[in-house]
Amino acid sequence: MKKKKMDLKWKQWYFMCIVLASRVAEAHVFDVKDFGGKADGKTDISKALLSAWNNACESLEPSTVLIPEGTYFLGPVILQGPCKSPSIGFQLEGVVQAPSNPFVFKTDGWTVFQYINGLTLFGKGTFDGQGQIAWNINNCAQNPNCKMLPVSLRFNFLNNTLIRDITSLNSKNFHMNFLACYDMTVQHINISAPGESANTDGIHMGSSARINITDTVIATGDDCISIGPGTRNLTVTKVVCGPGHGVSVGSLGKYKDEEEVSGISVRNCTFINTQNGVRIKTWASSPAGIASDIIFEDIIMQNVSNPVILDQE
Ligand SMILES: *[C@@H]1O[C@H](CO)[C@@H](O)[C@H](O)[C@H]1NC(C)=O
Ligand SMILES: *[C@@H]1O[C@H](CO)[C@@H](O)[C@H](O)[C@H]1NC(C)=O
Ligand SMILES: *[C@@H]1O[C@H](CO)[C@@H](O)[C@H](O)[C@H]1NC(C)=O
Ligand SMILES: *[C@@H]1O[C@H](CO)[C@@H](O)[C@H](O)[C@H]1NC(C)=O
Ligand SMILES: *[C@@H]1O[C@H](CO)[C@@H](O)[C@H](O)[C@H]1NC(C)=O
Ligand SMILES: *[C@@H]1O[C@H](CO)[C@@H](O)[C@H](O)[C@H]1NC(C)=O
Repeated sequence: MKKKKMDLKWKQWYFMCIVLASRVAEAHVFDVKDFGGKADGKTDISKALLSAWNNACESLEPSTVLIPEGTYFLGPVILQGPCKSPSIGFQLEGVVQAPSNPFVFKTDGWTVFQYINGLTLFGKGTFDGQGQIAWNINNCAQNPNCKMLPVSLRFNFLNNTLIRDITSLNSKNFHMNFLACYDMTVQHINISAPGESANTDGIHMGSSARINITDTVIATGDDCISIGPGTRNLTVTKVVCGPGHGVSVGSLGKYKDEEEVSGISVRNCTFINTQNGVRIKTWASSPAGIASDIIFEDIIMQNVSNPVILDQE
């Protein structure tokens, strides 16, 4: 009799431990749905996402913000650090859709990550920039006072970042922009927009170093990857590019005293149906600048109009 009671106690204690342990594990996932985010494709989840982000960012343990499967409407957000733990996750399993009207954007980005150390952005989900309306009103080629369209994903002042598996679809402007990012890995992502969409560069970067982009598919209406001033030690491998305008160093030399570009290698990449393959370009009558140690190697070109192009206008 006594032994049975003991057994029961043991079991209760054991189950309590399991429940507690799983609570502790769950406590590190901040699901937007628990902060009021609705997967109905029309209720703006930006407030819910910000609350989830702020909770994760304040946590002393490594935490993850989760957007589970489903379709969500997401207005412009800025997800900011510094965060209290040395790493933070952002897991996108659903589809988030941007407002299609570009005039609701007061800033130059849709989803902006900034001042963060140890960010991992991952998941099978999609950032859908809903660019179709914006491409038609983009007249920046003719009109210098044109509306600046928002970049889908901005990464500003980040250290130690991993971006993997996500999809970026139909951005209004560039899909991704890296500014002042150090030690970044981009792995197995998919960037997609129609070949005729305007200015939808896949990844643009500047003032950044030690970036690896690998195992990635980029199909857009503009450059697949464009490499701006101040990019150092960038490795691009196993990227399939096309349609689009290829991989471009530049345009460089828009301003005086630009930071130099160095240590760029593009290897084992495939270009299909692109306007250019690999390119280095400057603005016309640009001030002096330096671009050095650039390697393009083991590249397959298929139906590429200008496979290698060094263009100083
Ligand atoms: C990134 O690293 C630089 C150089 O070590 C440092 O000054 C900066 O504060 C770091 N930023 C973050 C967000 O950790
Ligand atoms: C990027 O790739 C280079 C060369 O393959 C490697 O030495 C470096 O450690 C990688 N950097 C990161 C941040 O993964
Ligand atoms: C990339 O995403 C687009 C749009 O969702 C999809 O049509 C395409 O099949 C994807 N490509 C790969 C290689 O996953
Ligand atoms: C780039 O790599 C070279 C060679 O490994 C190294 O000397 C240099 O310090 C690196 N620069 C940056 C900014 O990481
Ligand atoms: C290029 O990628 C293919 C497929 O992943 C691989 O088999 C091959 O070894 C790579 N070649 C080089 C030179 O890295
Ligand atoms: C070759 O690429 C161009 C785009 O640069 C595309 O319009 C054309 O359809 C492609 N041709 C073939 C045979 O795929």
